[in-house]
Amino acid sequence: MAQSASKSGGGNKSGGEGASGASTIWGGRFDGGPDAIMEEINASIEYDKRLANEDIAGSIAHVRMLAKQGIVSDDDANAIVGGLETVRDEIAAGDFEFKRSLEDIHMNVESRLADLIGPAAGRLHTARSRNDQVATDFKLWTRGAVDALSAGVKDLQAALIERAEEEAATVIPGFTHLQGAQPVTLGHYLLAYVEMLGRDRGRLEDCRRRLNECPLGVAALAGTSFPIDRHMTAETLGFARPTANSLDTVSDRDFALEFLAASTILAVHLSRFAEEMVIWCSQQFGFATFTDAFSTGSSIMPQKRNPDAAELVRAKVGRIAGAFQGLVIVMKGLPLTYGKDMQEDKEAVFDAADNIALAVAATAGMVRDVQFNKKRLAEDAARGFSTATDLADWLVRVLGMPFRQAHHVTGSLVAMAEEKGCALEDLGVDEMQKVDPAITADVYSVLGVENSVTSRTSYGGTAPENVTAQAKEARTRFLD
Ligand code: ARG
Repeated sequence: MAQSASKSGGGNKSGGEGASGASTIWGGRFDGGPDAIMEEINASIEYDKRLANEDIAGSIAHVRMLAKQGIVSDDDANAIVGGLETVRDEIAAGDFEFKRSLEDIHMNVESRLADLIGPAAGRLHTARSRNDQVATDFKLWTRGAVDALSAGVKDLQAALIERAEEEAATVIPGFTHLQGAQPVTLGHYLLAYVEMLGRDRGRLEDCRRRLNECPLGVAALAGTSFPIDRHMTAETLGFARPTANSLDTVSDRDFALEFLAASTILAVHLSRFAEEMVIWCSQQFGFATFTDAFSTGSSIMPQKRNPDAAELVRAKVGRIAGAFQGLVIVMKGLPLTYGKDMQEDKEAVFDAADNIALAVAATAGMVRDVQFNKKRLAEDAARGFSTATDLADWLVRVLGMPFRQAHHVTGSLVAMAEEKGCALEDLGVDEMQKVDPAITADVYSVLGVENSVTSRTSYGGTAPENVTAQAKEARTRFLD
């Protein structure tokens, strides 16, 4: 059922006539209508229509409570609930005409309710204001976004854990300063991201726990003289409790900031993985490739296979961190309580929420898709005397040398191998003994990348047996 554009509220003055006619949404106080530019800057309906379901849920909870408290009659409450359900259906069916002249989602819903049920609609706004209404709607929406994002991150962790189990013993080069450092296992590397994402989920859970207090019923800023039951509405809407201070309640956007902050850190983590995939997929590194499902071609260079998804994930942090920064600056120095400035909260959060969810899903797709070039990884892991630390550790462990001296002896052996153009394990014992006569053939047991990673069994270390155990533990900690 389409709403006719010219219809104004059934008996009440909530139709709104736009820039030229007299404004009707403010009732008796205003004779003239807003200037066109005033209407344009003031309206939020183009984006806050995303709060429609939350707005209607909040209104239904509110009017049920008003009826239970004897503040509105059961008949009026039933009419209002029925009308709101119709509005919800119209919006879901795409059959609702959102009007900019009605400013925001709250006024659009209420106006349509008046069209549908007449003057009783005017009782819905008893003992509340748009200030507590918008805070309630936005908290409900953000809570949903937090839950959806956390579920997405959990799926990404599942993908990483699966691949880590497959690659528990695959040797890859480990880097510091992006210089080859020590060999590590691929499973260990993948589980590093599982840990980061676990902390990201922890931040989202913290954010959810703190935001889960219901603003509804604090009214404009001071509370209300009506005998409302805020605990009832809080419970109906799934909040843990009502907020404790009415002034704080209409001023607070911490929850949005926390969501953006947690999303920013998450986006940073994703960008690091994405960057590594971009590097790994370069022909120069040749560590990995994406299949056609996660690659794009070039319109001019037929040979190209570009990791566009990884590049875009790498870039997403820009707009997400930007959203956080933008809202921080909006809120900074804002005097209590509500200021219209706060209407600027939504676009940032919506955009960030959409993009972080997309980045998480794309990363999960890439993790499942990426093909590792194990031969190349193993070869590269051995480059640059990457087992020199293992050799030094052997000198300490077996020969009882102080580490500083072992470091020095190893340095001489590295120089010798470098000179000969061979790997450390290619030096003969006799040659090694020229540097230190106590060295025996047992030293070969720690040289070579496989031996190196297998020996790193300290808690949290890279040994394949650790990776297998840690992947199992990660399943319990993060996926159960
Ligand atoms: N559209 C407004 C917002 O998003 C709703 C609250 C308006 N409150 C007010 N007192 N004008 O913040």
